[in-house]
Amino acid sequence: MIPTTSPAFIIRQHALQHSLNTLSELRDKSGCHVLYSIKALPFLPVLEYLKPAIDGFSVSSLFEAKIAAEVLSDAQSIHLTTPGIRPDEIAALNQLCTHISFNSLHQQQSFQKLPKTDFSAGLRINPKLPFADDKRFNPCRLHSKLGLSIDEIKQDSLLGISGLHIHTVFSQTDYAPLLQTIEKLQQRLGQYFNELSWINLGGGYLFNQIDDHQNFIDLVLRLRQQYGLQVYIEPGKAVVGEALDLVTTVLDCFVSDGKVIAVLDTSINHNPEVFEYQRQPAILQHKPQGKHSAILVGSSCLAGDVFGEYQFSESISIGDNIHFTQLGAYTLVKANRFNGYNFPDIYWADNDHLQRVKHYDYQNYQEHWTAS
Ligand SMILES: Cc1ncc(COP(=O)(O)O)c(C=O)c1O
Repeated sequence: MIPTTSPAFIIRQHALQHSLNTLSELRDKSGCHVLYSIKALPFLPVLEYLKPAIDGFSVSSLFEAKIAAEVLSDAQSIHLTTPGIRPDEIAALNQLCTHISFNSLHQQQSFQKLPKTDFSAGLRINPKLPFADDKRFNPCRLHSKLGLSIDEIKQDSLLGISGLHIHTVFSQTDYAPLLQTIEKLQQRLGQYFNELSWINLGGGYLFNQIDDHQNFIDLVLRLRQQYGLQVYIEPGKAVVGEALDLVTTVLDCFVSDGKVIAVLDTSINHNPEVFEYQRQPAILQHKPQGKHSAILVGSSCLAGDVFGEYQFSESISIGDNIHFTQLGAYTLVKANRFNGYNFPDIYWADNDHLQRVKHYDYQNYQEHWTAS
């Protein structure tokens, strides 16, 4: 099924369901609670679709907490952790969130000033056990802003605290970092675990790409049985990463210094992580043994608006479709209209239908840039 307009994001329900099935199995076997980290893709139809299959959402700001509260039922949880809480948001966050993991002592003290707190309080811990080589993705980097250092936690720090939060990995496909991190937490803080009610293991694990879940299941069962802890996970990319494609069209084609350049009706501004992290996105048409190569570029004025060089079985022509895959996480949410290029339409694909669910027009652009 090809959308009738271009460029177009396609949300693939089948892929969402596949992720949910994996998470449901983990939930059934281990008793963990699954939150979807909505920062990855907060599109409301996605949130509504996920809602019946999860225990809540994890959020990082007041707006995310608000949208989460609009979608969820009272029985579901909203967990917040963020380094940046504004003083004027504290009262609203107190009402909206069921769990808040403080990122600093100052945050903890700010909420203590409330006459009554309505959430379960936690601490985000920096376990000082780094797993990412690239420091841009490493919450345990030197001088990290994310969480209280495990070395500074004492019994006093846990006064009024019911839970711990950790999140230290990015796109991990095995559980070794999680096991090592929990072992370190147990060594340093295990004597306090019985006084806590919950632990949030964060996101960062690509559950669909892990074949053997036994270590995870055993870990969760142990934390539940040994300490009576409720165990939460808050995946983002693992839920939506494979569920969004971007279908684009070649607008122009020419040779530059001996290589074919194909200009697309999209740009890296619809997928900013390509530029931010210099990452080459996957396309369906790429054939590693293909005899024809082309550099796919975006329409914007930025010289580095380049997706990369790909191989094709046929030479590429104006009007061809280029179909990017696996863009569900951190793509649409970071997209922008730099150079005035409109956002792609958004389609929803279920088993038999492709339906356009969102279209942006000039009016949206004008409103964005009109002083109110
Ligand atoms: C605190 C926290 N939880 C969960 C997530 C979701 O991570 P992922 O999308 O890699 O699963 C993130 C991502 O940055 C995060 O910072």
